Amino acid sequence: MELKQKEQRKIFKDVFDKSTIDAIWKLIRKKELDGLDYLISTGKEANVFRVLLKEKPRACKIYRYETTSFPNMGEYIQGDPRFEIRKNRRDLIKAWCKKEFKNLELARNAGCRVPRPYAAHSNVLIMQFIGDKEAAPTLKETILDDYKSAFWMIANDLKKMYQAGLIHADLSEYNVLIWKGETWIIDMGQSVLLSHPKAKEFLKRDIKNMIKYFKEHGIKYTEKELHKHITT
Ligand SMILES: Nc1ncnc2c1ncn2[C@@H]1O[C@H](COP(=O)(O)OP(=O)(O)OP(=O)(O)O)[C@@H](O)[C@H]1O
Ligand SMILES: [Mg+2]
Repeated sequence: MELKQKEQRKIFKDVFDKSTIDAIWKLIRKKELDGLDYLISTGKEANVFRVLLKEKPRACKIYRYETTSFPNMGEYIQGDPRFEIRKNRRDLIKAWCKKEFKNLELARNAGCRVPRPYAAHSNVLIMQFIGDKEAAPTLKETILDDYKSAFWMIANDLKKMYQAGLIHADLSEYNVLIWKGETWIIDMGQSVLLSHPKAKEFLKRDIKNMIKYFKEHGIKYTEKELHKHITT
């Protein structure tokens, strides 16, 4: 119990440094949120909170400046004409957050089921909350009635993303939420444009992860078949 409290305090100290608090205040003034509700997740690079605006939930992803290890960040942001390469780590994290906003926007405009992004400021992203009281579970955490339909929902979203010129680049059962029988693809900070030198490689890896997961659940499409569905 005590350890848990200590851990919690450490998380809050790491997440809410002065400039992050300033960014949140700015978003409060812009009426993007009016209160924090609770911490949903502590990831490698970011913390996700359920926040409120007029008592309705939104999701707030805060990229950490302090405890972040962004070993491969450069690999995903170099080669993206939308973002000039920055040397400063804090600027890189801010660009990453803006990149996630833009990627979600692009995917959503292409008709994919991804959280609607509302605002991004510095290292803080506000987006649609998937779930109600609790956040929707990930594909990893859920047992589905119908794996085939989930497979096709994801496959079709990947196709729409591809047609819009975007590759997710970190797709797995951890980055898909299941809500009311529908799949929601999340976590798009690392997503790249098709013009990125490694786009094809990242697409292959996404496909591989999907096929592996669904194979374990009785869906027997091949990587080649899914690749063809997405790219033609
Ligand atoms: N829009 C959302 N609605 C509800 N829950 C969300 C939403 N976005 C994220 N979450 C929750 O937060 C978790 C982590 O989100 P996400 O995958 O975007 O970050 P992450 O894996 O920590 O990212 P990174 O690996 O880049 O640090 C998800 O598994 C999910 O539980
Ligand atoms: Mg994730």
